[in-house]
Amino acid sequence: QKNSGKNIKWHNLTIDRNKLEKMRGHKGMVIWFTGLSGSGKSTLANAVNEVLHLDGFSTYVLDGDNIRHGLCKDLGFSDEDREENIRRIGEVANLFMNAGIITITAFVSPFISDRDKVRKIIGSKDFIEVHCAADIEVCESRDTKGLYKKARLGEIKEFTGISSPYEAPVNPEIVVDTGSLGLNDSVEKVINHLREQNLLE
Ligand code: PPS
Repeated sequence: QKNSGKNIKWHNLTIDRNKLEKMRGHKGMVIWFTGLSGSGKSTLANAVNEVLHLDGFSTYVLDGDNIRHGLCKDLGFSDEDREENIRRIGEVANLFMNAGIITITAFVSPFISDRDKVRKIIGSKDFIEVHCAADIEVCESRDTKGLYKKARLGEIKEFTGISSPYEAPVNPEIVVDTGSLGLNDSVEKVINHLREQNLLE
């Protein structure tokens, strides 16, 4: 923590979150997908984004593989690097939310403490944690990127679910069994929750 807030003052903007939400006609929030590699986070996040976008909502997706090409390209997969990865994404998601945007994130985010820190930054009422709960067996059998095979061979160290832990959410807003549920049903489950909680008004 280099500056720890010293000599730095918060600046209030005239065009604030409230005004931006009014302009967009809906609230900003963060829909946070978490789950093992290959559990369908990106696919589901993308599909939910499509539905909301076509419905006229302002949305944006932050996705693990993409963010690691830029903002977080200096980070690997040690516990510390994952923590820093999620911290940065949490801050970025907060900025997007404050712009009145429905911000959809798809990161393994394997640690409860890191996700809880993000929940604190965002505020619990605006943070919708979605657990893509496909079992490791299903994810490994899909192995869409061939990463599980490499992890088993020891070619990738600290691979989530194999040689690095995944801590499932204890009380997430939504659990989607992406191991057995089809994509359309999964999308419906997420959208129904948002509607039931009056988050899309
Ligand atoms: S984390 O744990 O939240 O910081 O990870 P994330 O930024 O979401 O990046 C996960 C994607 O990186 C690829 N990958 C790995 N995942 C887990 N463990 C290890 N060691 C690893 N190495 C590379 C993998 O493609 C993940 O993408 P998804 O979409 O989850 O499969």
